[in-house]
Parts: sequence; C-alpha cells; structure tokens
Amino acid sequence: MITTIAQVSDTHLSKRKPLFDGNFAPVQEALRAAKPDLVIHTGDLSLDGADSHEDLRHGSAAMNALGLDWLALPGNHDVGDDAVLRGKQPITPERLARWEGCVGPLHFVRDIPGWRLIGLDSQGFSANPAHRAAIAEAIAGAGSRRIALFQHKPITEEALDDAAVNYWPLLPSPRGELLAMFGAARPALIASGHVHQWRDRVADGIRQIWAPAVGFVVGDAWQHRVGDKLLGWVEHEFHADGTHAARLHHMPALPLHDIGEIPEAYGPMTRLD
Ligand SMILES: [Fe+2]
Ligand SMILES: [Fe+2]
Repeated sequence: MITTIAQVSDTHLSKRKPLFDGNFAPVQEALRAAKPDLVIHTGDLSLDGADSHEDLRHGSAAMNALGLDWLALPGNHDVGDDAVLRGKQPITPERLARWEGCVGPLHFVRDIPGWRLIGLDSQGFSANPAHRAAIAEAIAGAGSRRIALFQHKPITEEALDDAAVNYWPLLPSPRGELLAMFGAARPALIASGHVHQWRDRVADGIRQIWAPAVGFVVGDAWQHRVGDKLLGWVEHEFHADGTHAARLHHMPALPLHDIGEIPEAYGPMTRLD
C-alpha cells in the first residue's frame, strides 16, 4: 500500500497583486494529472494573508480549484512571523484566527498506512500553547507509526544544535521544544518550505526535505545558496512498511522570478554583505 502526497509551497497568491499567480496555474494542471491521494501546501499560500482576508480566501479558492483533497499550513506571509525577528507583521491571535476563518485549521494529524503525518504551524508554535499541546499529543499517540512532519520553516539550516537566530529556519527555542516532544526518538521526515530552495538530505537522523517554491526564488544577492534555486513541487510516496521516497518535479518552464527584482511585492530587499 502506497500513499502519494504532493507537496507544494510558497505560492504567494493574491487577487489584488497577482504577481505570482501565473506560476500556480501550470502546477495546478500538473497536480490534477498526477492525482495524488492528498496535496499538502507548506505555507506562504498567500502574498499577504498576514494583513489581508482577501489574499487568504483567494489562496484557499485556488487550492479548492484543484479538485483534490488538500491541507495547508500557514507561512509567515499568511499569519506573520516571530517577534524576535522584528518583522513588520508579528504573529498575533487575530492573524492566526484569520487563517482559521479563511483557510482552515492551523495544524493537522492524518494517519495513513505505516505513517502518522503531522502538520505543524511553525509560525504560531511558540505563541500558541494549545497548538504545542496538540502536537505533543499527536507525537505521543503515534504508536508504531513513523512520523512525518510537514511545516513551513525547516527545523534547522544545518545541525539541530545550531544556536543562531536566523530568519530562515525554526528558532532554536521552539526547535528544542519540538524535539523534546520526541524524547530519544526523531521524526523520520520533516518536509518544509519557506526557503524557496530545493534540498533533500539526511542529517541528525532525520530526512529533511525542503520543497522549492512555486512563486519565485530569492536571488543570490539577497539570500545564501544552500540548496537549489528552482521552482516546482515534490511528490512523496509513503509505504505501509514505513519506507518513504520523494521526487522533485522541477518545472523549468515557470518564469524564475527573483523577489529581489520585484520590490512591488514586499519592498526592497537588503543585499547580503
Ligand atoms: Fe515564501
Ligand atoms: Fe515563508
């Protein structure tokens, strides 16, 4: 028994400013042709859902238009980001509630043969004790199933004990809280988005897959290159015996927008030194 899951990420959709909507249409077609059992969107569904109901509703409608079973997790552009990072849109209860009202739950648990899939809100993890309690319960109750986590931010950029506070991965404190929920065990897989780079590696005993974005990349002038800066989506195969395979669906025909060259989306970017 194999369960196929398509992971899409970072579509940054908006009716008001449809800068990246054109990239989603071919991906929608590819997903309809692939007919996965489930589509999981790992966040930044919307261009600016953190301040716009309309962007979130528009993103949700685009996912409904797939005609496939789907779930989505919020990204920083959907619900805001950790206050420690000093961005313009801190996570607030209002923002989290807006996602729930316009898109759906902030997290999920889905059992499939051999596996428990846990969708985690990497944005509200620190600020939302009820969310942490639900995730701890889902981890503790997995029994013999292997655990795959889906979330917007990767758990780390390199090692699990990295102490740096960095915009791209989960911050050290929530990372520690999450790992503590596993005790001596580890999740088998963590599939994330946010970095807009494709990467597939095993580190610290965890398969860590970074889905590429659909909407755009962040050029080398503005972001270090850790994985591959390309656009596409990921097909996961979960087997009942606990094994897993993942395959990149690179979509080279999509325009490779560089967000650093499109200040009308989020304003001018700061160049790396
Ligand atoms: Fe993004
Ligand atoms: Fe993001």
